[in-house]
Amino acid sequence: MKLYVTGGTGLVGSNIIRLAREQDSEIIAAQYGPEPEWQVDYELDPLNLADHDAIRASIQKFKPDAVIHCAAILDQLFMFANRELCWSIMVDGTRALAEACRDVGARLVFVSSDWVFDGRVELVDESSPPNPVNFYGVMKAASERDLGALDGLDYGVGRLAGIYGLNYAAPSLARKENGLGFDFSVYVIYRLAAGLPAEVWTGPKVNDVAHPTLASDCADMLLRLARHDGKGVFHCFGSEAINRIDLAHEIAAAFEADPALIMPTRTDEAVLDEMRHIGIPYRTRMSADRTAGALGRRAFNVKEGLKAFRQEWDDFWN
Ligand SMILES: NC(=O)c1ccc[n+]([C@@H]2O[C@H](COP(=O)([O-])OP(=O)(O)OC[C@H]3O[C@@H](n4cnc5c(N)ncnc54)[C@H](OP(=O)(O)O)[C@@H]3O)[C@@H](O)[C@H]2O)c1
Repeated sequence: MKLYVTGGTGLVGSNIIRLAREQDSEIIAAQYGPEPEWQVDYELDPLNLADHDAIRASIQKFKPDAVIHCAAILDQLFMFANRELCWSIMVDGTRALAEACRDVGARLVFVSSDWVFDGRVELVDESSPPNPVNFYGVMKAASERDLGALDGLDYGVGRLAGIYGLNYAAPSLARKENGLGFDFSVYVIYRLAAGLPAEVWTGPKVNDVAHPTLASDCADMLLRLARHDGKGVFHCFGSEAINRIDLAHEIAAAFEADPALIMPTRTDEAVLDEMRHIGIPYRTRMSADRTAGALGRRAFNVKEGLKAFRQEWDDFWN
């Protein structure tokens, strides 16, 4: 398979490239940010998703069989403050990519998010109507709709959630700081593995219950989706929901760290103030049964994911 990946120097994208290499795919990665830190044995094509003509030209140049579109902006404050630019990158850029894929007959896997939901309904599935509570979720939901409305496009939406893992292409970019909502597991893993206290914010505005997802595991799900012929929405995230405190304890167990390092703390007031206009889904509990049936497996549960990740961590750092 000739595979084109956007966001290939990101956490998810680097795991897709790593796995696709093992599967003997020919790989092209659009590159926007810093140079990858690993050895590049695939094609790199500079691309800014705000440049829609360049998107079309790149897809026309490579004519891939499949495109996995991971690139996105994740900084909630940046998105909130720069809406037109982010809409151009995230929504218009995704539509331009989809049109280009349709024109060359490539299948498009669009990486979306559990944050298309509000986290207030007990259990949602692949066909539940979205109800985003922040601009990021609005943009993801808008792109999901755009793809469904584009005649002649072969596509699947792969929704992810709470990603943790190693960014193999750029380990120095690991997002180790505490923040509201995303990359919680990455922060806790790096702190506990280093024997440092990890604050677990328990106050308002936290995504308290989510489906932690190992990046290499969802990479497998997304590659399966790229080879699949089903259209529509697929839930490619970890198969178990868990709250933040329990997850921190699971991480401590997996990394043989001292659970006393886990510090339940009220959400930082300065961060709360900064984020006062930005909604955070509270409990994103979702079913992925239909996806597991279609793609031939379910993603890891919490213990399975952390066990696999501990192995990856030891292999990488030792
Ligand atoms: N992290 C999570 O917990 C989470 C949860 C649910 C869904 N998701 C979704 O999963 C996907 C991957 O997330 P991630 O955690 O891997 O994010 P990430 O590490 O921040 O990677 C995102 C990538 O987006 C690319 N990018 C940003 N602005 C761009 C622009 N203007 N033009 C072209 N490329 C641009 C960069 O690509 P380069 O490699 O080219 O520099 C960057 O590496 C995203 O679509 C995200 O919305 C993530």
